Amino acid sequence: MGAGAIIVAAGSGERLGTGLPKALVRAAGRPLVAWCAIALSAARGVDALVIVSPPGEEKAIAAAIGDLVRVHAIVPGGTTRQRSVAAGIAALPTDVDAILVHDAARPLVTPAMVESVLAGLAFHDGAIAAAPVTDTLKREGADGMIDRTIDRVGLWRAQTPQAFRADVIRGMFDEADPIELDTATDCAGMAERRGVMVALVNPHSPNLKVTVPADLALVEVLLAGSRIA
Ligand code: CTP
Ligand code: MG
Repeated sequence: MGAGAIIVAAGSGERLGTGLPKALVRAAGRPLVAWCAIALSAARGVDALVIVSPPGEEKAIAAAIGDLVRVHAIVPGGTTRQRSVAAGIAALPTDVDAILVHDAARPLVTPAMVESVLAGLAFHDGAIAAAPVTDTLKREGADGMIDRTIDRVGLWRAQTPQAFRADVIRGMFDEADPIELDTATDCAGMAERRGVMVALVNPHSPNLKVTVPADLALVEVLLAGSRIA
């Protein structure tokens, strides 16, 4: 079998501040989670899609997806992102070879992005979308003054999708303790800690995360011009 994909959509979207769970917020006429579901399900190699919902919002998530996409399961999430990922993994078919995790907050994901991350698994146990840092980085000193410049060579911003061999990511979550599930901010972080080799895959297209209202305005413009149906 091929890959199982998980969209983690269980966050509350506090910083966006709309009062709605972030995954249900609309941009360019569609909820963020629907943009993600369309892109992931259109990618070659993705055989099953699980959506992790804010607990109690499963029906609203199902309505947001409509019949655009065939979904294997919609399951309630946990109190942290990584607990939500764990819920998604548990709901996937047991026979998938690879597991790909994507944030509902990144609606600019494309089928090509998913395919290039999955392609990285031919050579490595994990592969993630990531972009090289382009700004000059400053370390803050006292009173908001610059202490010094940080060398940006070799620094990347981690994104999603993040894909792993199924046995590797299942093993990581089986042995994770509650503290790790509460504090890890992505699956790649859990992999690094275990010495799993994870490749950086530059998507070469915008893949920003909707966190604050200005991000939503930006993805609105980019989605309106996108070619996904
Ligand atoms: N997420 C999740 N379960 C949680 C927390 C986060 O599934 N308990 C998901 C979010 O739905 C999002 C992704 O993880 O797709 C990244 O999280 P973030 O951008 O922080 O989203 P929110 O937690 O919803 O936003 P905020 O922190 O502003 O409340
Ligand atoms: Mg959050």
